[in-house]
Amino acid sequence: MELRGGWLNEAMAIADRVLAGIARQLGEPTGFAGRVVGRVLNRGNRPLVVAAVAVADCGPTAEVADIGFGGGVGLGLLLDSGAAVVHGVEMSETMLIEANHRFSDDIAGGRLCLHAGRLESLPLDDSALDAIISTNTIYFVPDLAAALRELARVLRPCGRLVLGVGDPDQMSKMPFTRHGFRLRPISELVSAIREAGFERVDDRRVGDGPGAFHLLVCELPAAE
Ligand SMILES: C[S@@+](CC[C@H](N)C(=O)[O-])C[C@H]1O[C@@H](n2cnc3c(N)ncnc32)[C@H](O)[C@@H]1O
Repeated sequence: MELRGGWLNEAMAIADRVLAGIARQLGEPTGFAGRVVGRVLNRGNRPLVVAAVAVADCGPTAEVADIGFGGGVGLGLLLDSGAAVVHGVEMSETMLIEANHRFSDDIAGGRLCLHAGRLESLPLDDSALDAIISTNTIYFVPDLAAALRELARVLRPCGRLVLGVGDPDQMSKMPFTRHGFRLRPISELVSAIREAGFERVDDRRVGDGPGAFHLLVCELPAAE
């Protein structure tokens, strides 16, 4: 009996380490496993990112960004949307290397600029952008207020921020989210976004049922 208990505890400890590893890779894809995770993210999150790019509403003169682009699905979609210049910001070296290979023509042509950086300290000038998308990233940001202040800083007046997040109640049922994910209620996110200076915040749903993603579409006020 004791033997079986010991075996079960060991199996649970291994399962826990696996879940912690998945959570770590989602928060910062690294190495070979990170490259696999990037491809899985591109497939799984595509519908959300397609919707985010559509509401970002990039015109032919727009300068836009995908922050925390992971496998790069958003970079490709922003380039296809016809925006003049696309910026990608990532803290994962593995994802930056992957995107550098995959989009080498767009980088050489000057339409895509990749930057190493974090949401909380963006390597972009004040009022540089017309629109930003950032999907499935803010669970990994401890200081949400600092990140939102940065996002507001780099957007022009009337600029649009599109944040894609999983439904926190549904995400809390995924066992890996117990390992360091910050699953903030949507009402808390909306309050923090307004606090950072965004005027309009719409919560649109992408997908069906309670598991539908939230697309928080946020606009800065016009210049005074
Ligand atoms: C779960 S993946 C999402 C990738 C992609 N946006 C998507 O929806 O498929 C999270 C990505 O955000 C990046 N990330 C995590 N924390 C970040 C931060 N503080 N600033 C910028 N990027 C961050 C990670 O390196 C990772 O590539």
